[in-house]
Amino acid sequence: MTFTIAIDGPAAAGKGTLSRRIAETYGFHHLDTGLTYRATAKALLDANLPLDDEAVAEKVALELDLMGLDRAVLSRHEIGEAASKVAVMPAVRRALVEAQRKFATKQPGTVLDGRDIGTVVCPAAPVKIYVTASAEVRARRRYDEILANGTAADYDAIFDDVKKRDERDMGRADSPLKPAEDAHLLDTTEMSIEAAFKAAKTIIDAALQKN
Ligand code: DC
Repeated sequence: MTFTIAIDGPAAAGKGTLSRRIAETYGFHHLDTGLTYRATAKALLDANLPLDDEAVAEKVALELDLMGLDRAVLSRHEIGEAASKVAVMPAVRRALVEAQRKFATKQPGTVLDGRDIGTVVCPAAPVKIYVTASAEVRARRRYDEILANGTAADYDAIFDDVKKRDERDMGRADSPLKPAEDAHLLDTTEMSIEAAFKAAKTIIDAALQKN
């Protein structure tokens, strides 16, 4: 038996920070599944291959090494954009979901974050949390993060991007972003990371006691 924590939500909701902190606290393995879509997109871009050829993208996805995912390299904005295009293709999703499910069997437990973990990848996970925040707040957080890294940023452009990404993630036919019916909703619009972590910890501790 292992213990799986599924964290879903829209872009820039704070899933990553929250998931890493949870994994560290409980000594669980963590997989940011967005990186699997990003790595697939990057491999296509690097090889000058089209982003909309499903058979080609599936082949790349099947060859992906989950251990070699580098967040620093994959976090670039253009890669995120390309990833959300690759993520609409069912054959790509099938290949990556299989690898993600395998990861979820690791002992003693795992934290997977993404868009469809509670609904598709690990529907039997004992803990499902859907992290969200208003589009304005998510754009503001991303803007502040970029400024803090010493780079110039344009809030309006970031806000437009966040909304476009939401539309693509929530509007696609295969595995659209939505909360699982039994997910705990965590709206962090007016919540600090610390408060969000405490709320998540209460949910997880209660589920661990039942397990
Ligand atoms: O969370 P992120 O920005 O790294 O995700 C990049 C893209 O990958 C995002 O637009 C949607 C897609 N994605 C997905 O479809 N399913 C997941 N489980 C994770 C990410």
